[in-house]
Amino acid sequence: MTATLTSTPAVVRTIAEIRAAIRAYRAEAGATASVGFVPTMGFLHEGHASLIGRSAQDNGLTVLSIFVNPLQFGPNEDFERYPRDEARDLDVAARAGADIVFMPSVSEMYPTSAATQITVSGVTERLCGASRPGHFDGVGIVVTKLFNIVQPDRAYFGLKDAQQVAVVERMVADLNQPVQIVPCPIVREADGLAMSSRNVYLSADERREALVISRTLAKVPAWIDSGMNAAQLTAAVREGISSSPIADIDYVETLTYPALQPPAPDAPVSVSDGRIIVAAAVRFGRTRLIDNILISLPEAQPL
Ligand code: PAF
Repeated sequence: MTATLTSTPAVVRTIAEIRAAIRAYRAEAGATASVGFVPTMGFLHEGHASLIGRSAQDNGLTVLSIFVNPLQFGPNEDFERYPRDEARDLDVAARAGADIVFMPSVSEMYPTSAATQITVSGVTERLCGASRPGHFDGVGIVVTKLFNIVQPDRAYFGLKDAQQVAVVERMVADLNQPVQIVPCPIVREADGLAMSSRNVYLSADERREALVISRTLAKVPAWIDSGMNAAQLTAAVREGISSSPIADIDYVETLTYPALQPPAPDAPVSVSDGRIIVAAAVRFGRTRLIDNILISLPEAQPL
């Protein structure tokens, strides 16, 4: 199936329908078939559009899923109020080049409460894994189910959720899931704010103050060049973000990537650390935002 910029994607809501559509595509395309998959929770923005666009470039068929997965939200989190807008999402999906949009209901995905758990240890110990207990178990089960349903050749994930990428890559490797994970760069608004479906929650004042995260993270390469160690880097980022009177920091951490372990505590962050991530989660009012900068050493260039 070849998408044009204006083609309307097929919308399917059941597992039987999506399997039949992909089977039909594979039968028709034969040996050249390749299925790209972009799993999302909807309320699509340009970040999602870039994943869809990349998949459409790389593959003969691009499947987008939109499913707000209850299992990855904690009891006091925003599952109920998570933004949903089907018509708007279908418009973004069409413009970005999706061929099929899979929008299952909760009962289609979880007809009974799942007795099977997927827990990826190690890479989930810190960052959102620590501050949102159970979150990555919910991601692991839904991504595995979606991979089993869609059976894609490639799956596209944004690096704003860099820990999610590390978790999914580890899960896929450990379970020999036959899919290539394609990490894609963070997409930012013109003023630097990382795109997120949750940005819609921000008041004008919070939106303005939230820029402190990307502005502070942008200083990280220079701080690394100046010889800071991981603790100093974390402290400098904390201090920068705290310059906003309404920023309520959940975490700021400097870790190796993708292992997500602390680098040597006292030495300057160096080439022996490989890739380094400085990641932050910060609340503005009721809205929790995450962002990060991933650095490849020794050049201290953002990836
Ligand atoms: O990144 C997201 O939107 C979600 O965590 C995902 C991967 C779609 C699983 O629900």
